[in-house]
Amino acid sequence: MATINCIGILTSGGDAPGMNAAIRAVTRTAIYNGLRVKGIMRGYKGLITGEIVDFTSSSVSNIIQKGGTILKTARCPEFREAEGRKRAYENMRVAEIDALVVIGGDGTITGAQRFAQEFDVPIIALPGTIDNDLSGTDATIGFDTALNTIMEAVDKLRDTATSHERLFFMEVMGNTAGYLALSGALATGAEAAIIPEMETETDQLKTLIDNGFRKSKNSAIVLVAENPATGGAMGLAERVKREFPQYDARVTILGHLQRGGSPTASDRILASRLGAAAISALKDGQRNVMIGIRDLEMVYVPFSKALSRTKSIRKENIDLVKILSI
Ligand code: F6P
Repeated sequence: MATINCIGILTSGGDAPGMNAAIRAVTRTAIYNGLRVKGIMRGYKGLITGEIVDFTSSSVSNIIQKGGTILKTARCPEFREAEGRKRAYENMRVAEIDALVVIGGDGTITGAQRFAQEFDVPIIALPGTIDNDLSGTDATIGFDTALNTIMEAVDKLRDTATSHERLFFMEVMGNTAGYLALSGALATGAEAAIIPEMETETDQLKTLIDNGFRKSKNSAIVLVAENPATGGAMGLAERVKREFPQYDARVTILGHLQRGGSPTASDRILASRLGAAAISALKDGQRNVMIGIRDLEMVYVPFSKALSRTKSIRKENIDLVKILSI
């Protein structure tokens, strides 16, 4: 196994609060272990264009509390092409980078998997996405902060929903997963969560109307996971207008606001632990795994497992939302 002297670090895909804390932890743990560190700007794009800068300990000063990512981020279609990956590999060699730590979500790990297969590059991925949709880890960096943002927004929405006795659909992000919507509903006492995972099992809107709304309460907040297939919160509001015109529904779409803000303590700690573990993993000869934490234990998750979409939604939490909102 080739010796690793220099680590390249990048953030890619949608930014997530806590990415900076992870960059800091990777950089400082690497330097502590006698390794050199290079920051790659704008995700895989910077690897292709050669936008690579030397990092010192002070490059990551005063960033643990900051949202976004100091390395910038991008979605990079060129990296999906063989030609783009070849250029990225050549630039890596020129910059004398021996191994990569990539921080991002499913797109980032898909790219890492392909790159590692083609060029035998040691890569460690850290789960960085507000969506929490990577398997093999209980939480992803950014999920907790986004959840807190959702919680604050719903708390505010509750005031006007109650005053006007209205039904509100609040759409939250999640890519194709309902973790933010379901956990958000539990954290706020929302009346329901409408999530893609349950889409084929029941007509969630009809269940909501049949089971509860207007029987015991005059207002309701429903957290809706974004879902282009059904039109998300807007799609539901249109259905209400057509099928249940007696209700006065309104829509709030939280959007990219959910990706911003200073990371919570929980995200900073998660990012710091995972960042340090990335360097230990490389030193221990681990290759091509995502690092996660499951049941409080640090785990190495093969890329294919991380991308497998096998982390299930806790069905009992769907019932709990219902029970607690009677
Ligand atoms: O994966 C993070 C995420 O915020 C998703 O929740 C959302 O679907 C997507 O990114 C939005 O992407 P963009 O910032 O490219 O609009």
